Amino acid sequence: MISIEKVSKKFTSRGQEVKALDEVSLTINDGDIFGIIGFSGAGKSTLLRMINALEKPESGSVTVNNVEVSSLSYRALRPVRHEIGMIFQQFNLLNTRTVYENIALPCIMAHQNRQEVKRKVSDLLSYVGLADKAQSYPDQLSGGQKQRVGIARALATSPSILLCDEATSALDPDTSSSILQLLRKINRELEITIVFVTHDINVIKKICNKVAVMESGRVIEQGDVVEVFSNPQHALTRKFVATVIPEDIPENLQKTLKAETAPCSLIKIRLADRQTTRPLIWEINKRFDVCSNVLFASVTEIGGIVLSVMIIRYSGDPEVIKKVKDFFTKNSIDWQELTL
Ligand SMILES: Nc1ncnc2c1ncn2[C@@H]1O[C@H](COP(=O)(O)OP(=O)(O)O)[C@@H](O)[C@H]1O
Ligand SMILES: [Mg+2]
Repeated sequence: MISIEKVSKKFTSRGQEVKALDEVSLTINDGDIFGIIGFSGAGKSTLLRMINALEKPESGSVTVNNVEVSSLSYRALRPVRHEIGMIFQQFNLLNTRTVYENIALPCIMAHQNRQEVKRKVSDLLSYVGLADKAQSYPDQLSGGQKQRVGIARALATSPSILLCDEATSALDPDTSSSILQLLRKINRELEITIVFVTHDINVIKKICNKVAVMESGRVIEQGDVVEVFSNPQHALTRKFVATVIPEDIPENLQKTLKAETAPCSLIKIRLADRQTTRPLIWEINKRFDVCSNVLFASVTEIGGIVLSVMIIRYSGDPEVIKKVKDFFTKNSIDWQELTL
């Protein structure tokens, strides 16, 4: 388990003080794929570097597998760092060394014996799908292959935690997806906890079970991905989520609707999981004999759970429309009335 408690950190650059982290608290459980999302400068990398003590907090504490890493000396940190692998956006491979040597280096530094290292590197190369690339140099590989080498190197000390700093941000969408799939496999099969820092909500959607949203050095929202995605509280979270779960009426349609004068209500409903298979619109039409028109609908799957958003226009007698709204409330449907 990783426990970050009230961690603060300031930097001074060109005479200006920046609060990179401001009383950040997070708990990351064993087995999580924990996403940390925010725009550039939010403090994500600084927070990630606290976990392997590349950065030390000014106040607060960071505990990894029951060891408080924030107060350890360099020497005492060594065994803890073997527990933690890290991968980067720019891969950080040694270009003058072969793929084999890049992966073997952490084992050699940990004084493992030659035969053991050979077996380990060969197993890791097969695991990440690069069995035939042992003698290649990083420059001869594609971006996705380089990141696979980065992953194999990070796994060389058999860590229990893998830190990923924008690890798919330099890759095209297909390659990025294949790296995310590999990370999910590593999480499940090798039981490695993953902390993934990113500005890309698709990464969170595709592999994370937990998420924390950061802005200006603070965690502004955190929780289960499904809960945060289905009911984002903070404006920034809503902005991120809206890019994967669109919920706006197209602009041209908005113009047409604005020009109409007949009484109507625009209702946005959000359904999750089992609610999505209920024939809700039909039920309401039948019960209240109301005129309904679906103007927008989207269905997205996150963490194996289906989320659906619909915008429905109900027109006719305001009394009847009120009954429809009461029906939503009574049936615990998340709804809101929109104004154009
Ligand atoms: N070593 C440093 N020296 C000075 N300022 C830094 C240093 N590291 C980070 N910062 C500043 O701290 C803030 C958070 O940075 P960072 O953690 O890299 O954010 P992110 O990874 O979310 O883009 C930024 O304003 C950045 O400029
Ligand atoms: Mg960063």
